[in-house]
Amino acid sequence: MTSGDSAAFLRDVVLPTIAKGVIIRRPAMVALVERLSLDDRAVRRMQRLRARYGEDPLLVRNPVRPQAVIFRHEDLRRVLDQAPDPFSPASREKRAALAHFEPHVSLITRGAERAEGRAFSDDILDSACPVHRMADAFVAVVEEEADELMRVAAPSGELTWDMFFAAWFRIVRRIVLGRGARHDHELTDMVARLRRRANWAFALPQNRSLRERFHNRLRDHIGRAEPGSLAEMMARRPDGPRTHPSDQVAQWLFAFDPGAMSAFRALALLLAHPDALEMARGELKSGRSRTDLTFLRAIIVETIRLYPTTPMILRETTRDVEWHHGTLPRGSGILIFTPFFHRDDERSSDAHRFAPMNWVGRDPTDVPAFVPFSAGPGACPARHLVPMIGSAMLARLLMHDRAISLMATKRLDPSLPLPGTLDPFTLRFALPA
Ligand code: HEM
Repeated sequence: MTSGDSAAFLRDVVLPTIAKGVIIRRPAMVALVERLSLDDRAVRRMQRLRARYGEDPLLVRNPVRPQAVIFRHEDLRRVLDQAPDPFSPASREKRAALAHFEPHVSLITRGAERAEGRAFSDDILDSACPVHRMADAFVAVVEEEADELMRVAAPSGELTWDMFFAAWFRIVRRIVLGRGARHDHELTDMVARLRRRANWAFALPQNRSLRERFHNRLRDHIGRAEPGSLAEMMARRPDGPRTHPSDQVAQWLFAFDPGAMSAFRALALLLAHPDALEMARGELKSGRSRTDLTFLRAIIVETIRLYPTTPMILRETTRDVEWHHGTLPRGSGILIFTPFFHRDDERSSDAHRFAPMNWVGRDPTDVPAFVPFSAGPGACPARHLVPMIGSAMLARLLMHDRAISLMATKRLDPSLPLPGTLDPFTLRFALPA
């Protein structure tokens, strides 16, 4: 690739993603990226590179090290299916970022330590099961907090991101740690402060004392093993010496934040698309179990397809790997730019359309070009739990007697292609009296 194209790739694809914040979003930057349509431009740049160089992985010179960018669907699946060896999720950039707050999380460890941490998340999050074994208890929490959210929002007649976020994290703390953590906003604030540092990865020193305080507090909550919470399941599970439960749970608390953004965006997309809204209401009237709302779950997955919260999936080769026309040396970076695969309008007519039906009865990890939750052995262990909790939240908000509606609907006009960015922080919903 020419140095001009490498520079264009860094400017159009990498820079906007980093500016928005990889580990925690910077609201001002998200707004700017939306205003300037930079996420759309990133996908177009990828398409141009493909037209110019073909579909083999492209080696990009970036300031950290050479990185192979993936274009072909088969290559995408090969990289994801062959984790953690030879394509390790524990890339150098990710290690630098996540070590700020969870140095032993499975995503950035290797060998037996990764295996133990990953098995812990798989077990407790019931990663293989569409309906978590504690789903009934979780849905009850979601419904209680959704009702409380509507009570809080009612006097102003408006539902905003801040209100939604506060309610969402009450749900998260209760599901993960139990009712005793319901009001522990400080825990959520501490992890947010650590994540803000993590956005700077190598460029900022770690705040070890804050990290230690955060983990001590988290361990106290986990140690209560409150009935009805994931902490109860953790207490029943024998841990190995390298499980590091509080590091795995820190990742869950972090990852529930994109869950909130996705649920809030999903609410907006649903209210902006009358056909889908009618189907969702039909599903609610059908009496289907709130733990397994097929269509509303598909709404969440489709939202994450359109607005992937992990736009860059990074891998690093653990040994030399033979590839099409040469060898990818050990220690090479690999970059999967998810929006390119999800929004490739040269390959899919639904790229910029809200099409939740595409996910009904289908596990996204089985569809080659769609990787909202990654795929293969490194796929997100909450890929069923997130749509379950998100759909229960949407259901409760839709069933409320104050009919909720999206304000400033022009942003999501269903007759136009959907924009590449949807800033969740500025979405607003009206709640007429
Ligand atoms: C919108 C919500 C979410 C999305 C789109 C999402 C997506 C992803 C993706 C793409 C990865 C792979 C990252 C990589 O390879 O670098 C991942 C990993 C992971 N996610 Fe999620 N995630 C979400 C929410 C959650 C939640 C709520 C939890 C926990 C309750 C969770 C737990 C994890 C864990 C533990 C890993 C690491 C897996 C490993 O080490 O192999 N995620 N997620």
